[in-house]
Amino acid sequence: MQRRIWIKQLSSAALYYNPIVKYASLFSGDDALNKKMFGKDFAWGVSTAAAQIEGAATEYGKGKSIWDEFSSHKGKIKTDESPEKACDFYHSYKTDIALIKQLGFTNFRFSISWPRIFPDGYGYMNQNGIDFYNNVIDTCLELGITPWVTLYHWDLPQALQNKGGWINREILLWFSEYVHICANKFGDRVKNWMVLNEPLAFTSLGYLLGIHAPGMKGFKHFFSAVHHAALCQSLGGQILRNNVEDANVGTTFSCAPIYAYNENNKHNEAVKRYDAFVNRLFLEPSLGLGYPIHDLPVLKHLEKCYKSNDENKLAFDFDFIGIQNYTRYVVRDNIFIPYLHGLQVPPKKLGNDTTDMKWEVYPDGLYKIVKQFSAYKGIKKIMITENGAAFHDGLDNGLIHDNQRVNYFKEYLAQVLKAKNEGINVDGYFVWSLLDNFEWAEGYRPRFGLVYVDFNTQQRILKDSALWFKDFLK
Ligand code: NOJ
Repeated sequence: MQRRIWIKQLSSAALYYNPIVKYASLFSGDDALNKKMFGKDFAWGVSTAAAQIEGAATEYGKGKSIWDEFSSHKGKIKTDESPEKACDFYHSYKTDIALIKQLGFTNFRFSISWPRIFPDGYGYMNQNGIDFYNNVIDTCLELGITPWVTLYHWDLPQALQNKGGWINREILLWFSEYVHICANKFGDRVKNWMVLNEPLAFTSLGYLLGIHAPGMKGFKHFFSAVHHAALCQSLGGQILRNNVEDANVGTTFSCAPIYAYNENNKHNEAVKRYDAFVNRLFLEPSLGLGYPIHDLPVLKHLEKCYKSNDENKLAFDFDFIGIQNYTRYVVRDNIFIPYLHGLQVPPKKLGNDTTDMKWEVYPDGLYKIVKQFSAYKGIKKIMITENGAAFHDGLDNGLIHDNQRVNYFKEYLAQVLKAKNEGINVDGYFVWSLLDNFEWAEGYRPRFGLVYVDFNTQQRILKDSALWFKDFLK
């Protein structure tokens, strides 16, 4: 029983969040939030990821990804669905990018599918894959939309997983070849790059808890996956910097501020341990501070994965750090939970609204985590590369009145503005997500899009939240 609770705790700690808020109509009349308040250079965008939207998972020469494999096993995806068709963005990219333009966003974050470029992970290159991303990039540029590319958003080639995936140190070589190709093929037009998407999420959910692809479990796997991902993060940054002229190089982190259950000191100690795991594990090595072993001693095992001089290879001076925040954690001390010695208070007990992911809506948390990150000297710039919410979106005469989502955006954006007005260098905000899409192990049920997708007909419908942004961005 304790073990089950512990897995649940780690999995929510790994993935993020949960809280509420009674939606006050904060913005009306003269107080209304407007785009100008964020300054003319603030980047407004939408975020997506290849495996979640593209479809065409086994077509045009693409190799199998770990998510194609994982989802083919019964029970791995809650709804037994797969990314095979998703939003069919592979065929509808032109009209979908036109939608971005129509809504007034000028930045589009998407990821490159590694197995679409290298079906076997390395070696033979699939020209169809290169052509596809060239088309996506060119369409963006023709419409005046700036592309922001993530190199790794969780769809590892299955061929590499067959050799151990992130637990095999050879991933440094495989990743390096993949990054070189992307930099050389697309770097003439793409200047904004993110090396990894949420390394804590894919290593903990996929290699420790086994609830995401590739479904591996155990600390031994986890520690080697973490260390190799941290090395690839800095290596990828260096390759981009050396091969792309005027590159703006970043990486992204899932993060959530941690609050103590009450002021009792033992809960504050649990906060420290959670914070080391949830927010600092990948950030601090990238800043040259090493792993946060002092506050979470079990991380000492990471040192067993070191080869000569690794401690000096973990840092890279990123141009920006991508913050991906949805909620917060409230934790209390609990000696029965291994290592973290703390338990997350269930979000629904905190009295605020929760989303379809059971995450607490807690706008102040975004401000708090931006502030926490901005206190590191080594962070030059912060971009909010993901923020958004899944709510139940009912069709009402062909329309979706997603007021909860509209309020969510207003309240979270107010917190971004608050940070900016205090002089914090936060320079952009990307909505997760443009389209309803494949939400990993949850399947297609949670809908995060500004645009509703009917997955049977591939019809798109602008939700009220999309129209709210359209008006806001005018
Ligand atoms: C984090 C991930 O980057 C993205 O793929 C996921 O769909 C969203 N957050 C929502 O869970």
